[in-house]
Amino acid sequence: MTDISPVPNDLDAFWMPFTPNRHFKANPRLLARAEGMYYWDVAGRKILDGMAGLWCVNAGHARAPIARAIAAQAAELDFAPSFQFAHPKVFQLASRIVALAPPSLEHVFFVNSGSEAADTALKIARAYFQAKGEGQRFRLIGRERAYHGVNFGGLSVGGIGNNRKAYGPLVPGTDDHLPLPYDRARHGFTPTEWEGGDAYADALERIVAVHGANTIAAVIVEPMTGSGGVFPPPKGYLQRLRAICDRHGLLLILDEVITAFGRLGHAFAAERYGIIPDMICFAKGITNGAVPLGGVLVSKKIHDAFAQADDHAINLFHGYTYTGHPLAMAAGLATLDLYREEGLFERGKALEPALSDAVHALKGAPFVIDIRSIGMAAAVELEPASGAPGKRGYEAMQRLFKEQNLVLRLSGDTLVLAPSLIASADEITRMAESIRAVLGKLS
Ligand SMILES: Cc1ncc(COP(=O)(O)O)c(C=O)c1O
Repeated sequence: MTDISPVPNDLDAFWMPFTPNRHFKANPRLLARAEGMYYWDVAGRKILDGMAGLWCVNAGHARAPIARAIAAQAAELDFAPSFQFAHPKVFQLASRIVALAPPSLEHVFFVNSGSEAADTALKIARAYFQAKGEGQRFRLIGRERAYHGVNFGGLSVGGIGNNRKAYGPLVPGTDDHLPLPYDRARHGFTPTEWEGGDAYADALERIVAVHGANTIAAVIVEPMTGSGGVFPPPKGYLQRLRAICDRHGLLLILDEVITAFGRLGHAFAAERYGIIPDMICFAKGITNGAVPLGGVLVSKKIHDAFAQADDHAINLFHGYTYTGHPLAMAAGLATLDLYREEGLFERGKALEPALSDAVHALKGAPFVIDIRSIGMAAAVELEPASGAPGKRGYEAMQRLFKEQNLVLRLSGDTLVLAPSLIASADEITRMAESIRAVLGKLS
């Protein structure tokens, strides 16, 4: 008989994602419990979460209304297929999300993750032009340093070299990437968005000139480059991208997997920047991280292009077994209630100066070569150790966990903070001061 007894000390079988496995398993960081702003590790040590889980636990950990909704749903309707059948909560949650979205984004396609959201949006963009008889529009334009998840579409339009280099050839028609709208020499240490980013948006005109607009389907960008290291958009940049897309009939997809649900002080960052994209990808914060869920908000114009004359004809040949999973829908509804009842998007906005002040106070600390912040996201970039990129950041992350009881995120040598929207000003200050405390000890 197969032995299924727990083997607590064997860390070998689980191949960990985005982790140096051997080193981790020799020095494990095992989290056993969480509540509000804190984790407790397996030894009972209390650890401040500087990262809202992985940019997702926007209302803090283990919120009772969400846990209750998931438990009740599991007992009532554990699963229902979304192909040819459905259940009431999937329509309720889609309607609630549409109500929060910019005008004309009237439809939601549910998926299970941010990666699936990105690939779904890219597929819809190509299929939209096919449906309109413009199938020659197939190119998908991404941006340097962008992260759109790990599936082939998102990887192809993504711009983080280490994530891409082992997996080529990537998706055809995705070779063009806009420049990252940032130049450390000119914009480093600027507390918020800076002026003068037009040339970065105008790079899209150059791509259009090379290929012809009639070969391009869509442009996909994160409003704020997140996993690539927190780069706020320059003032007017997203609005200018929108105008260029309009001029040439290109779809604009905003990947708001990180920025949606309060991270930039609004339900969607599109609202902060006053633009209406054609699609918005979301995930993470929609369930407060409690159940995997993602989705794509789609404009009426795109959705209606898939209308079929025959009643039996399928609109979109796409979907997942777990599209609209009842547990995820229940969690999403309870999460949106919590965000509204506790005014968490507004709270995130009100906390923006506290986070910005706390991290920018680290200017001049050892190894700090740049500091960036926007909304409830901040980055402290360290000078890489000579010949060993990533090593200094890794040491800092480990020391912060062990010596300062703080979890944060690494992007190369950049330390990233993205606290839950329930954080207190004191907790935010503590995060920055913990970073200061370890910087002086780094090799
Ligand atoms: C902007 C963006 N898109 C997509 C993803 C991928 O999401 P997931 O890890 O849920 O697949 C992420 C994850 O951080 C993200 O930040």
